[in-house]
Amino acid sequence: MEQSKSYKIAVIPGDGTGPEVIREAVKALDAVSSRENFKVNLAHFDLGGERYLRTGEVLPDGTLDELRGYDAILLGAIGHPDVKPGILEKGLLLELRFQLDQYINLRPVVLYPGVETPLRDKAPEDIDFVVVRENTEGLYAGSGGFLRKGTPHEVAVQESVNTRMGVERCLRFAFDFCRKRGKKKKLTLCGKTNVLTYAFDLWERTFQEIAKEYPDVATDYAHVDATCMWMVKNPEWFDVIVTDNMFGDIITDLGAMIQGGMGIAAGGNINPHGVSMFEPIGGSAPKYTGKNIINPLAAVAAMQMMLEYLGEESAGRRVERAIKKVVSQDLRSLSAGQMGHSTSEVGDLVAQHIAAS
Ligand code: IPM
Ligand code: MN
Repeated sequence: MEQSKSYKIAVIPGDGTGPEVIREAVKALDAVSSRENFKVNLAHFDLGGERYLRTGEVLPDGTLDELRGYDAILLGAIGHPDVKPGILEKGLLLELRFQLDQYINLRPVVLYPGVETPLRDKAPEDIDFVVVRENTEGLYAGSGGFLRKGTPHEVAVQESVNTRMGVERCLRFAFDFCRKRGKKKKLTLCGKTNVLTYAFDLWERTFQEIAKEYPDVATDYAHVDATCMWMVKNPEWFDVIVTDNMFGDIITDLGAMIQGGMGIAAGGNINPHGVSMFEPIGGSAPKYTGKNIINPLAAVAAMQMMLEYLGEESAGRRVERAIKKVVSQDLRSLSAGQMGHSTSEVGDLVAQHIAAS
């Protein structure tokens, strides 16, 4: 008999509600791995605000190298109310994305049947697109600084860094992804060519150039402000949107809202040639921490993306079917505290649906 495949998964529960939702994602992962022919070996990494407050360490020496030895990383959330903003976000989350060169942040925006969207008159067939967010450059590169800090003449500069290599690899990923997805085969570049005339000039030129290699993919352009408008007014126009780091950050929060909220929105930090990291995009949600009321489905959906990236497509589909079942049959709402079930009960339901599938 063929030996079953085995994957080494690094699990970083992290801060706030991270550990609660990751527990349920792992429950679903265990359920699906016993249903399908693969095994998982999980290693938990104690990283995040608690560790920082206890030891002063954000990303201890050697951790990155250790993580490079895994097939994928499943992350809960990073961000702690007692830690000054930026320390954990830059020192841990962005550091992982940058150092592991996860240059794509892939964020599907999908409305599942039975889920409520704030967009009146929009149905699941209207909300089904994916945002490809550049994940290592732009305003996130950390370029800039202060001059005369703390004086009335203070200057703060924060520059957007866009390299030809970084832009090109992101665009190529987006074209390939759009082609493979095989839906509308339309790629929209989201930028701000009318104001950011250097950064998005590079993006647009590179976009047009690469488009020639993909005659089967239709191209489109929208400014970021108009993109926000269309996402609300005509989300059915979108198939794949590619954009820079900052704009991608902003429009994917909007995307999460139109697909039913942070309770369901997942993303993947992808290095196509290295180790990728999957996470619910909602953050650590301190006010819900420890209450067993947060929705774990975004973490389950992140785990589903991870399976797809590992090549376990059938397992991924099985998890997606279970998520769809839970949202259409079992939950009253996707919002924390209003699901009609606790966090752990939702995880149990997902695992049951997987086991029975
Ligand atoms: C996200 C988050 C992060 C980002 C923060 C926590 C640094 O908002 O993953 O979208 O801005 O990328
Ligand atoms: Mn964000």
